[in-house]
Amino acid sequence: MSSDLGTLRPAPAAAPLPLDVAAFPPGFAWGTATSAYQIEGAVAEDGRAPSIWDTFSHTPGAVDNDDHGDTACDHYHRWPEDLALMRELGANAYRMSIAWPRVVPGGDGPVNAAGLDFYDRLVDALLDAGITPNVTLYHWDLPQALQDRAEASRGGWTERATAEHFARYASVVSERLGDRVTRWATLNEPLCSAWIGHLEGRMAPGWTDLTAAVRASYHLLLGHGLAAAAVRAAVPGARIGLVTNHSTVRPASDRPEDVAAAVRADGHSNRWWLDPVYGRGFPADMRELYGVELPERAGDMELIATPLDWHGLNYYFPVTVADDPTGPVPHAREVHHPHLPHTGMDWPVDAAGLEALLMRLTEEYGARRLYVTENGSAFPDTVGPDGHVHDPDRARYLEQHIAACARALRKGAPLAGYYAWSLLDNFEWAYGYDKRFGLVHVDYATQQRTVKTSGRRYADIIRAHRTATG
Ligand code: FCB
Repeated sequence: MSSDLGTLRPAPAAAPLPLDVAAFPPGFAWGTATSAYQIEGAVAEDGRAPSIWDTFSHTPGAVDNDDHGDTACDHYHRWPEDLALMRELGANAYRMSIAWPRVVPGGDGPVNAAGLDFYDRLVDALLDAGITPNVTLYHWDLPQALQDRAEASRGGWTERATAEHFARYASVVSERLGDRVTRWATLNEPLCSAWIGHLEGRMAPGWTDLTAAVRASYHLLLGHGLAAAAVRAAVPGARIGLVTNHSTVRPASDRPEDVAAAVRADGHSNRWWLDPVYGRGFPADMRELYGVELPERAGDMELIATPLDWHGLNYYFPVTVADDPTGPVPHAREVHHPHLPHTGMDWPVDAAGLEALLMRLTEEYGARRLYVTENGSAFPDTVGPDGHVHDPDRARYLEQHIAACARALRKGAPLAGYYAWSLLDNFEWAYGYDKRFGLVHVDYATQQRTVKTSGRRYADIIRAHRTATG
């Protein structure tokens, strides 16, 4: 580790914080976020079975450099060191996910005690360190056994049964951890599972099939509703949320075709996910555009619209779209934004988008409690000759987006926390290890962790808030 506990020095050349820290209420959750497959490694240890991401990442050509999560950040063995890093940052919250294939390796069969024990120890240690866990039950690592099981359809989330198996797994986990964990999320970014995994083919299971994608989107949201009910039954007082990712969408011009494309893109990325969850049903214009019959049954929409105790927003970038009549659904092509800076993912940087989405969730959807559950940026960092990782672009991104949170709070958004993505550089899905999002650098050859300048900047912000609110 780069520094001792509690001795993290302020970020070099730190300008006075351009930040309205007083906007953040006392008790605000300052956290970092990770997910199981991206950091844990140990994929064949203690009874874990393969997930669809093990299969996908070992498919030649699916992931840049043919990287995979076999070792990742070796967090399964190094978690005490990673927890010490969270303490160094001064974080009081941590968003993590549980690997379904560790806990119920077959998807719906026997429970693996060793898998549960791992998370049990981690939760205890977090609480001992004064860090509140926010546990996501599904961050994309579906047990491969369920993907292989084609029953009514093509396996995995195209099957209604997968939603039911998910609820049972949610019961198993919450029964074990629910005496200590109160903040639960069912799914992370169902949009990515459905659209990127089943329609665009860039994530597991790697399909390009609109019917499968729409069915998967439906069963994911049903799984959310069923799992929410299961956790509530197991843990009285549990606070259940759903984590969705969104972008603001602008038309590339004021041509009516581009404006209509922006409405479709907004439907695809935002309304398709938010409308049903907030009790409005699936948007009619998108149902018509997809032209796929939903596998609806009586009572499903009530489950999907179960009131959320909180909503987690993952925000990275805005999108600008032009009409693309011959392109894939939603027939809207993303265009480059020449006036905005871009990150190492080539994602445009626009903190105003975060503010706008927080206000949309507040005003248009009536969200009762919000967390920014992910927000961050990738840049090609290196450890300098002085042993430090200087990442001013990430530090700026962080400050600008936290400032956007402050503005949303001043305007009345019920924002209760911010989780920076990510604690560590990690396995960035189809991009492998080249894209580094961490506040802490990881040297994958040695597993050496080094807190970056941005991590120290985050610690400064947390400290400033704590000082201001006592
Ligand atoms: C989100 C994912 C997260 C991470 C970031 C960069 O879509 O939820 O796991 O990969 O993007």
